[in-house]
Amino acid sequence: RKIAVFASGSGSNFQALADAVSNGTLEADIELLVCDKPGAQVIDRARKLNIPIYTFVPNTFPSKAAFEQDIVNELKSHGVEYIALAGYMRLIGKVLLNAYEGRIINIHPSYLPAFPGKDAVGQALSAGVSETGVTIHFVDSGMDTGPVIEQEKIPVLPGDTRDTLQQRIQQAEHKLYPAILHKLLQKDTIGGIVQ
Ligand code: GRF
Repeated sequence: RKIAVFASGSGSNFQALADAVSNGTLEADIELLVCDKPGAQVIDRARKLNIPIYTFVPNTFPSKAAFEQDIVNELKSHGVEYIALAGYMRLIGKVLLNAYEGRIINIHPSYLPAFPGKDAVGQALSAGVSETGVTIHFVDSGMDTGPVIEQEKIPVLPGDTRDTLQQRIQQAEHKLYPAILHKLLQKDTIGGIVQ
């Protein structure tokens, strides 16, 4: 299965997916990293791994449809079948959704539908909840609203700071994302029946 990873930030989930591909626990090929922030750390990670990179600057395009069309062209030229979002901090628009219907997956650092959108970790801390989580879901046009594939609860411990909680969440993400993606690709349920 040929996949692309979309990321805008540090890329620790991108790294976890790439590591899982290298050690054979995720049977897939990462054909492309798509990144909307040319200075992001994830780009260095991809470079070290010799994974092709497509970067773009959204506000140099006339519209979301225009930059997404370029992304789709790039994905098609690499034969990409599935997209894994890993900290790609933008809503997916119609052009990408139509081209990859049911084949775009996201990971979000909360137990959705709690704390969608930006800073889910900070939101959980401010809300004073005793547990939060990780969610892997299919992507639709909403903000973290698509059908849930898998969720894991993560405790919020007394004295947690944003850093300690984020670390706990990310440790779980780095295990869960490759494992769930592998399962989905094996069963080929992506694009088919949900759950
Ligand atoms: C992850 O926590 C993921 O759940 C969210 O964005 C974060 C990306 O972190 N969507 P990283 O760039 O993979 O380290």
